[in-house]
Amino acid sequence: METLNLKSHWNNAYNKTDTDKLGWYENNCKPSIDLIKQCNLPKNASILNVGAGATLLIDELIALGFSNLIASDISESALEKLKKRLSENSNKVKFIVDDLNNSTVLNNLEPIDLWHDRAVLHFFNESKEQDTYFKLLKKLIKPKGYAIIAVFNLDGAMKCCGLPVHRYDKSMLEEKMGDDFLLVSNFNHTFTNPSGATREYVYTLFQKK
Ligand SMILES: C[S@@+](CC[C@H](N)C(=O)[O-])C[C@H]1O[C@@H](n2cnc3c(N)ncnc32)[C@H](O)[C@@H]1O
Repeated sequence: METLNLKSHWNNAYNKTDTDKLGWYENNCKPSIDLIKQCNLPKNASILNVGAGATLLIDELIALGFSNLIASDISESALEKLKKRLSENSNKVKFIVDDLNNSTVLNNLEPIDLWHDRAVLHFFNESKEQDTYFKLLKKLIKPKGYAIIAVFNLDGAMKCCGLPVHRYDKSMLEEKMGDDFLLVSNFNHTFTNPSGATREYVYTLFQKK
């Protein structure tokens, strides 16, 4: 889908539904936080959450003392919701509206310590889109920096938010990450969404060599 249509698809999703009723809403982000803790990052580490939406992960990272956070998304409505909820804590976060597949801002960022993606990569069904995503990730992460990728696993749903998804296991992600990254940790996780349905995820933590 081209940027404009995709943007309105996601803006629409965030505008018509309260954050805590969205199908991907987590009331705590423990699986991500567990992996982030494994990275032993200093509190001033730069953490980029791509396709952040209105996630509580940002609130949880601020509560842990992290102060150099970047939340990016194609949907400005999502980021406005996040900013509003964070209130005065929003000054600890840089908000970037950008399309991961057609980046004009992220591709000019200073190198980062951690890339975090939950439930974004799986929307990129075309190999060209996947290549663009991994090229950006590899360019932005500092040597010895980390990437966390959490996406629907091979037992996962075929669609999310009305869009088809491409599912992964840890080996498929290892292949995409290539020889410059080491798989440090991985697990499968069953997420229960606000309406009680379950979604199967694979969580992976990679370190750049
Ligand atoms: C299923 S939601 C997950 C949101 C958040 N990561 C979370 O765990 O709550 C997918 C998010 O990816 C964003 N997104 C989808 N396609 C994108 C793209 N091409 N570039 C940037 N963000 C995108 C959507 O706007 C949405 O916020």
